[in-house]
Amino acid sequence: YSLKDYNTFGIEANAKYFFEFETNEEIHDFLSKNNIINIQYLLLGGGSNLLFTEDFNGLVIHPKVQGIKISEEEEDSVLVRVGANENWDDFVGWSVENNLSGIENLSSIPGVVGAAPVQNIGAYGVEVREVIESVEAISIESNKKVVFSNAHCEFDYRHSVFKKEYKNQFIITHVNFRFKKQTDFKIHYGTIAKELEAYAEVNSKNIREVIIRIRESKLPDPKVLGNAGSFFKNPVVTKTVALALKAKHENMPIYELNEMQSKLASGWLIEQCGWKGKKIGDAGVHKDQALVIVNYGNAKGHEILELANEIKKSVLYKFGIKLEMEVNAI
Ligand code: EPU
Repeated sequence: YSLKDYNTFGIEANAKYFFEFETNEEIHDFLSKNNIINIQYLLLGGGSNLLFTEDFNGLVIHPKVQGIKISEEEEDSVLVRVGANENWDDFVGWSVENNLSGIENLSSIPGVVGAAPVQNIGAYGVEVREVIESVEAISIESNKKVVFSNAHCEFDYRHSVFKKEYKNQFIITHVNFRFKKQTDFKIHYGTIAKELEAYAEVNSKNIREVIIRIRESKLPDPKVLGNAGSFFKNPVVTKTVALALKAKHENMPIYELNEMQSKLASGWLIEQCGWKGKKIGDAGVHKDQALVIVNYGNAKGHEILELANEIKKSVLYKFGIKLEMEVNAI
């Protein structure tokens, strides 16, 4: 079963078995008839955060649950239940059209709604954990439905319980979002506030427009050029390490996280090592955003991984910083 259309890197890879479902009944039925706990399986959403390095010799499970529905309307907030396979950006568009605010900064992120909590997607000063009320999933082991509250998801920077102790154990079918009616726009990242000056007012529709423009200006569209967004995470280091580096490299961007820790910009570190715009065969570092690795055509997954390893080596050598992949290599 070809997975080429199921990964935004556009890598040619095959799965031995493939199962997709639209309703909870279908997946319950499948799990009751097939004991998959002892075979190799992969839960695949929009495929926007993974890299196939070879064929997948197991079962791919792909939720196709659709639907966006307001399930509760209160005086100051609205609860919306969304199927895992709804396209993330279409959902952001829907929220803006319906005058709900909270995720407009997350416009244009590739992928589907069910994957958003897994790595706690974030951009431009907002993380999805801020609006997630709960996550509905089906346990592969027990074949029972489980509802995870926000706290149970253990959200962190590009992290959640679904990547830690519950990795590969739950199939997410729906996500419930709580939108506050009172608006609290986040416009202080980068040039957002400045670009909003051209608009008559600050509202979620205008913020969405600005974010889409910023992203289009430096992030390649996976439909045109295969990629999976940021390939590495931004490293979190102690303040001491950050300040020592800053003393040597005056222009280095640093974001304060808390009293003890700072976050560095991997894109900057990679660019300083001379990688921006470099190509090895069909695998390359994007010309406008060094944190994005792209497939110029027929790159193999392992070629992308080799390029990533070279990048890691040079950043370690030049800055003493160990980059960690954000993308999952399968
Ligand atoms: N920079 C460079 N050279 C580059 C890229 C970046 O010098 O080639 C510098 C920029 O000038 C800026 C800093 O690095 O000072 C940060 O760059 P940017 O604002 O573009 O964001 P990022 O840190 O590279 C993160 C997220 C993105 C998210 C943006 C905006 C991670 C791993 N990535 O990227 O998320 O869109 O911030 O909030 O946290 C993703 O996860 O797939 C993703 C695209």
